[in-house]
Amino acid sequence: MPKPVIEFMEVSHIFPGGIRGLDKVSFQVAPGEFIILCGKNGSGKTTVLRHMNALSLPTEGEVLVSGVSTKKNPAHARQVVGMVFADVRNQIVGETVADDVAFGPENLGLPEQEINHRVTKSLEAVSMGHMAERRPYLLSGGEKQRVAVAGVLAMDSRVIVFDEPFSNLDYPGVQQVLIQMVKLHKAGKTIIVATHDIEKVAAHASRVLVMDQGRLVRDGALDQVVHDIEQYGVRRPCATLLGREVNSWLA
Ligand SMILES: Nc1ncnc2c1ncn2[C@@H]1O[C@H](COP(=O)(O)OP(=O)(O)OP(=O)(O)O)[C@@H](O)[C@H]1O
Ligand SMILES: [Mg+2]
Repeated sequence: MPKPVIEFMEVSHIFPGGIRGLDKVSFQVAPGEFIILCGKNGSGKTTVLRHMNALSLPTEGEVLVSGVSTKKNPAHARQVVGMVFADVRNQIVGETVADDVAFGPENLGLPEQEINHRVTKSLEAVSMGHMAERRPYLLSGGEKQRVAVAGVLAMDSRVIVFDEPFSNLDYPGVQQVLIQMVKLHKAGKTIIVATHDIEKVAAHASRVLVMDQGRLVRDGALDQVVHDIEQYGVRRPCATLLGREVNSWLA
């Protein structure tokens, strides 16, 4: 395996009040992987993702992002790992859609021309170019989701993490986000998608991680993992129709 871009080493997270969010979670992500992180509500998916870009820090253990501890250098983790959350309401920071997408690249200290170029390109990629001057909080849930994806595209992060990216999206929205994911993966990005509905992404993922009660209970190729996945509250993908379709959308 090449040098991991993300490494969890016996990571436990205990929330205030003593709730154990993660329990000795260990795994490695190699550059260029496309991983599904699944498990039922409350199993620890979002908590795992938050540890990848130092929004949460381990109570015990270490998370390394391209070899650097998130405890020692959270800014490094945020530069390498871009994140699109399920609840995009919390992610909106700009006065306008364009400002919002510009926020990340501005924090990287890029020149203005480069920022503008990235904002335009990223909004076009999610078909939101015509809404650049709109107020983000007035957008629909699906439109907000697309703006959040554009924000991560504009960061050009090596690793892109999606938390329940399909909730709130209509069929064209699902198509666009899925196409984006596959394109980004083909461009060499590492993709991690947390979802309890693995059907949409099953055809693209090289590996599935299954969480249950804060523990990592399965880690392997989809066909190795799916046969007993229902005991952890995850529906077996009965058809990967969307997955196969995405190739024809890309053509
Ligand atoms: N800030 C917090 N304080 C206390 N407990 C928390 C906090 N955040 C999460 N938890 C608990 O940690 C556990 C894991 O939560 P997490 O959000 O990671 O689950 P999830 O797998 O993402 O669930 P979902 O599918 O509902 O999004 C849950 O039991 C949750 O109640
Ligand atoms: Mg979650």
